[in-house]
Amino acid sequence: MRRLSQSPTDPAFVQDPYPFYDRLRAAGPLVWWDEYDMPVAASHAVVSALLRDRRLGREDPNPPPRPAHQAGFWGVEDHSMLELEPPRHTRLRASVLRAFTSRRVAALAPGIEALSNELVDAFPDGPFDLLDAFARPLPVRVIAQLLGVPERDAPRLLAWSNAMVGMYQAGRDHAAEVAAADAATAFTAYLEHVFTDAPDGLIADLLRVEAEGGLTRAELTTTCILLLNAGHEATVHTLGNGVAGLVAAGLWGRTVDDALVEEVLRHDPPLHLFTRYAQQDVEIHGHLLKRGERVGLLLGAANRDPVPYPEPARFDPTRFPDAPAATSFGAGLHFCLGAPLARLELRIGLGALASRCPGLRLAEPPRYADIYHFHGLAKLSVTRD
Ligand code: HEM
Repeated sequence: MRRLSQSPTDPAFVQDPYPFYDRLRAAGPLVWWDEYDMPVAASHAVVSALLRDRRLGREDPNPPPRPAHQAGFWGVEDHSMLELEPPRHTRLRASVLRAFTSRRVAALAPGIEALSNELVDAFPDGPFDLLDAFARPLPVRVIAQLLGVPERDAPRLLAWSNAMVGMYQAGRDHAAEVAAADAATAFTAYLEHVFTDAPDGLIADLLRVEAEGGLTRAELTTTCILLLNAGHEATVHTLGNGVAGLVAAGLWGRTVDDALVEEVLRHDPPLHLFTRYAQQDVEIHGHLLKRGERVGLLLGAANRDPVPYPEPARFDPTRFPDAPAATSFGAGLHFCLGAPLARLELRIGLGALASRCPGLRLAEPPRYADIYHFHGLAKLSVTRD
C-alpha cells in the first residue's frame, strides 16, 4: 500500500482538500494517510462499498477506558444509534423511524418556508454575513420545530450541542471533556422537563414509542440530542457551501429543484471523513485489517471522483438523475436518518434565498473555517442586490 503525508491542519489543505484527494485516488484503492495513521479510501466505488461492508462498523470493538469526568457524556452517547451496530442499532433506528416519518418531515415545509422568509426579511441593506443571518439560525430552529420545543430555547440547545461535539475534536483538552459531560447532563435535565410538560411534535410521538416498549428513556433522550447534534451543523455548512458554489459557478438565480440540491450536496459537502472499525479480521484490497483497526472513508473525495462524475469540480445540476448518488449522507446501515429533512431544508431555504435575493453577490471571497472535520465556511459576506 502506498503512503501519503498531508497534515490535516495545513491551512492550504483545509481551504482546498480536493487536490490531495486526487493524489490519494491516483495512488490506489487504499492509501496509508500518515498523519491519521490508517488506510483511507478516496474513490467513489471503494468508499460506497466500504460504507455498506457489514464487517466494518462504527463501534470500536476494543473501546478505551473512560475516565470518570467523562461519564455524563458517555451516559448519553452510549445510546446513540450513530455509535451502535446491530442488533441494537436495528431496533433503535426502526423505533425512531416509527415517529420520524416522511409525513412528519413533509409537515415541516410551511414552517421552514415561514422561517426562511422571516430571516430574509431581516437582511440589512449593506454587506452582511449570510451564515449568521440565515444558514446558522435556520437548521436549529427547524429542529426545535421538529422536536416540539420552544424556538426561544435554540441558543441553549446550540451551546450544549457545540460543547458535546467538542469531544470529537482532535487535541481536545480536559476542560473540553468536562464541558461536554456537563452539557450532556444539562441537556438531559432539560429534556426530562420537556417530557413531563405535555409536549407535541416528534417528542410526543417518541414518547408513545417509548410507552409501547420501542425505546428506553435513555434512548429517547439520546435520540433527541442526536437529532440536534447530527442535524444542524451539517445543514448550516451545506447551505453556506451551496450558496458560495452556486454564485462561483454563475448559477445564482437558477430554479432550486431536486437536481440542484443533489449537486449542492455532491459538489462541496460538509462532512469529509468518517472512520470504520473492523469488527473482525478482514482483508480489503489486499490489506489485512485486524479486528479493532480503522479505515477512513473520504466522502468528500468520493464525490469528486471523475469516474462517476466527469469534470467533478464543475458545478453541474444537470448530472442528476443519471449520476450515482453522492456519498454526502453516507450509505448502508448508518445512512443519514435526516436526509429527507436536510433535502427539504435545502430546497426551501435555497429557494427562498434565490427568489427573494436574485441579485445576491459575494462581498468578499469566502474562506473556510480552519478545521478539517467540518468543511464549512467561517464567513459568507454578501450583499443582496
Ligand atoms: C447520519 C450527513 C443532516 C440525522 C449521517 C451520516 C452522514 C450524515 C454522512 C452517516 C455517518 C456514517 O456513516 O458514519 C448529513 C448531512 C446533512 C445531515 C451532510 C445535511 C446536509 C441531518 C439532519 C438530521 C440528521 C437534518 C436530523 C434531523 C442523522 C442521524 C444519523 C445521521 C440520526 C445517524 C443514522 C444512523 O446511525 O443510523 N448524517 N446529515 N442528519 N444523520 Fe445526518
